[in-house]
Amino acid sequence: MFERIDYYAGDPILGLMGKFAQDSNPDKVNLGVGVYYDEDGKMPVLECVKTAEKRIADPVSPRPYLPMAGLPGHRKGCQELLFGKEAQVLKDGLVATIATIGGSGALKVGADFIHQWFPQSKCYVSDPTWGNHIAIFEGSNIEVGKYPYYDQATGGIKFDEMIAFFETLNKNDVILLHPCCHNPTGVDLTQEQWDKVLEVIQQRELIPFMDIAYQGFGNDMDSDAYAIRKAVDMGLPLFVSNSFSKNLSLYGERVGGLSVVCPTADEAERVFGQLTYTVRRIYSSPPSHGGRVVDIVMNDDALHEQWVGEVYAMRDRIKAMRLKLKSVLEAKVPGRSFDYLTAQNGMFSFTGLTPEQVERMKDEFGIYMVSNSRMCVAGLNVNNVDYVANAMAEVLKD
Ligand code: LMR
Repeated sequence: MFERIDYYAGDPILGLMGKFAQDSNPDKVNLGVGVYYDEDGKMPVLECVKTAEKRIADPVSPRPYLPMAGLPGHRKGCQELLFGKEAQVLKDGLVATIATIGGSGALKVGADFIHQWFPQSKCYVSDPTWGNHIAIFEGSNIEVGKYPYYDQATGGIKFDEMIAFFETLNKNDVILLHPCCHNPTGVDLTQEQWDKVLEVIQQRELIPFMDIAYQGFGNDMDSDAYAIRKAVDMGLPLFVSNSFSKNLSLYGERVGGLSVVCPTADEAERVFGQLTYTVRRIYSSPPSHGGRVVDIVMNDDALHEQWVGEVYAMRDRIKAMRLKLKSVLEAKVPGRSFDYLTAQNGMFSFTGLTPEQVERMKDEFGIYMVSNSRMCVAGLNVNNVDYVANAMAEVLKD
């Protein structure tokens, strides 16, 4: 009966976690999945989260179904983080926000909504992008295309080509954008470039869908949201998916949000209703624990301040690792530029290693990276950075 079912080859990112766990090499280093590990190579539990967990645990309370849209405090936390606490668009009731099962859940609910209400729309993702963007939108029966983005030759962005491409798109086509810390390249648009992109989006009446999974890891909480807030200032309709996996170190809790900025409060109410109906048809309502943590940390001033400090400490440690890896590589591989390491933002670095070189890093050194050459810099620490640099120098030699 099931013989005709295709085998699943596994996910190119999540599959690495299983392979890494089985590797018996004592020196192995996980630079595959986008997860932050601390100086000791451990996934941190943030102090603000520990405090929130204590409040949740004492007294132990019942676990009712949450509303389809999740906890109001979770939704408010998403809105204020993305749009700014005093944002007029929030006061005017123009933003429909639901709490979602991670950033992926937000993308899925958004994609289903778009397919239902904008059935002619195609979705365009950056070349390259996070592989699941394509899978999720195609899974919602939306045709997915790619727009020019990363320039292999310069390590920058094919900006003119990208703009020219956007100018060929049709009204209501969706453009998936990464407001900060582009995954997988780490190469971001400047604010001037964002202005131009949003201008074309406005002229062509395209729909921007911004996926922000690393807010706080680029520059700071506010400037990482520059593109989102600029789009709002311009009065653009806008979808935003956000994730707390990385910046609250709550990967397994699956906490995120989907916000849709609408022209009027009436439209926002309609959209909100349809988003909740979409949730009802997929998973009914979100789980409560992670949402409660988000609610507590985002809405308690002292915990929020502590949280921002903890995110910036993670950001700064990643930046320090970029510098360290660059300086060791420059010493070991003279004549080759590693400037890209410090020019790129966030957790990821596109290293330009070939798939064969990535394979050698794994087989000969137990160093795991994604085959497209993406390295999760957040997996480096003072104890493994020299080892990784040596291995890179070795595979780059031949
Ligand atoms: C990544 O890009 O590694 C993360 O977003 C984890 C994932 O689900 O792929």
